[in-house]
Amino acid sequence: MAPTSIIDETKASVQQLPLDKKLDEQEVQNLIQKLASIGPVGSAQHNTKGRTGYDTEWVNKIPETTRQRYEKYGIDVSKGYPYIPTIDKIPKFVDEAFAIRNEEYPFIERGKNADPEKKALFGAAKDVINLTPYVGTEIVGLQLADLDDKQKDELALLIAERVVVFFKDQDLSPKKQLELGKYWGQVEVHPQANRIGPDYDGITVIWQDYFNEKGGLGLSFQRSRQGTSRWHGDLSHEFQTAGITHLHQDSIPDAGGETIWSSTYGAYDKLSPAFKEFLDGKTAIFKSAHVYLSRENPLKGPKHVEREHPIVRTHPATGWKYLFVNRSYTTRIVGLLPEESDAILNYLFSVIENNRDIQVTFSWQQKLPGLKSPSDAHKTYRGTSALWDNRIANHNVIHTNESIKGRHGTRVASLADAGYFDPDSKSQREALGLSLD
Ligand SMILES: [Fe+2]
Repeated sequence: MAPTSIIDETKASVQQLPLDKKLDEQEVQNLIQKLASIGPVGSAQHNTKGRTGYDTEWVNKIPETTRQRYEKYGIDVSKGYPYIPTIDKIPKFVDEAFAIRNEEYPFIERGKNADPEKKALFGAAKDVINLTPYVGTEIVGLQLADLDDKQKDELALLIAERVVVFFKDQDLSPKKQLELGKYWGQVEVHPQANRIGPDYDGITVIWQDYFNEKGGLGLSFQRSRQGTSRWHGDLSHEFQTAGITHLHQDSIPDAGGETIWSSTYGAYDKLSPAFKEFLDGKTAIFKSAHVYLSRENPLKGPKHVEREHPIVRTHPATGWKYLFVNRSYTTRIVGLLPEESDAILNYLFSVIENNRDIQVTFSWQQKLPGLKSPSDAHKTYRGTSALWDNRIANHNVIHTNESIKGRHGTRVASLADAGYFDPDSKSQREALGLSLD
C-alpha cells in the first residue's frame, strides 16, 4: 500500500473518533499498526518526508570529487544515492530504538597505553601544527590509510589531549575509514540516517545540500541556525557515547562551511571551584536527534530516545575531568527543579559556546600540490579529515544555505565508554600545572 493512502486512511480513522471516546484495546492496536506503517518519524529538526531506500533523483547531484572517490574505490551508486534503510529495518517505536546497543560492550581506550611522546606518529609526519594552545592539531604529510596500530594508538591519545586532529590532502576509501573507526571502538550504525548503500552500515553520509533541499532542513540566510549549525555533540543519547568521530570531507566548497570545536575540558576549567564541586557527581538526561512513536500513546507526538549520563566525566586516556553537556541534546539535570536546571544548563552552554580561547575554527579548504589555487582543489578528489572526541567537544558548522553548497562527506563514529566520574581525577589545567585564576 502506498504511504499516502495509509496516512489518509489513518487520518480518516482518527477523525471518525469522537473526541471523548475511550478507545478499546483493538482500536488502539489498529491505530498503532497504521501509524507504524506510515514510515520513520525522522529527525526532530528535519521534515524527512518519510523517504526510505535509494534516492534516484539526487544521485545525479553527487559532487564531482565525491564521484571520483567512489569510482576510484568501486562504489556503485547506479541504483540511487544516498540510501536510507527500508521501512522494515527502521524502528518505529521509541522502545525499539532505545533497545539498540542498550548494554555494555567491551571498549578498549586505544590512547590509554600509547607512547605519551607519540614518537611513531610524529616521527613519520612532515609537520605537527598546534592550531591553538590546547585545542586542535594538524598533522601534515601522513596518510590516515597508512597508519599502523602503534600510530593509531598514539593518534587516539593525541585526540584525547587535543580534542580534534586534522589531516588534509587525504586519499581515503569509505571502507578504510570504517576500518579505522572499528579499531577505535564499536562503530555506531544509525537506524535511519543516510548512508552510501545497504552494504555500508556505519558510514553516515553528511550532505548538507541534500538535507537542506531534500530532507526539509530549511536552511536560509535568515534561518541559518539549523541542523549542524547549532552547537551540539553527536550521539550523546547512546548508552556508550561517541568517542573518536571521523568526518572525511570529500567535497569542499571554495569558501565557507568552517567547523568550530569547543573543548569541554576547557569549559570545565572555566568554572569556579565551588561550582565545580556542585556539578561533580550530577547527571543529566540526553535526547536523540531522531524521533520515534510512543507505543503507549502513538498519537501524542514524536518521542526522543533518552539516556542519563554524568555531566562531569573523567576521560579514560588522559584522566582529566570534562563537562559533558550540549545545547542541542541535553534536556535537564536530574534532581533539580526545571527552572534551576534550565538556568544552570544555559550558563554551561554559554561557557562552552562563548569562550573563543577554548575553541578552534577549522577551514576545510586545502591547497593541493600541482594546483594553481585552493579554489581548484574542489575539482580533484583529495579529502580532508577531522577526527574529534565527542566526549570532550561540542561543535558547530558555520553555514547557511549558501556556504554549504558542494559540501559532502562521510562520517564514522566510534562509540567509547559509558561515561564515569572519578572524584579523584584532575581537570586538564590542574593536571598540566596551569593557573586556574
Ligand atoms: Fe555533528
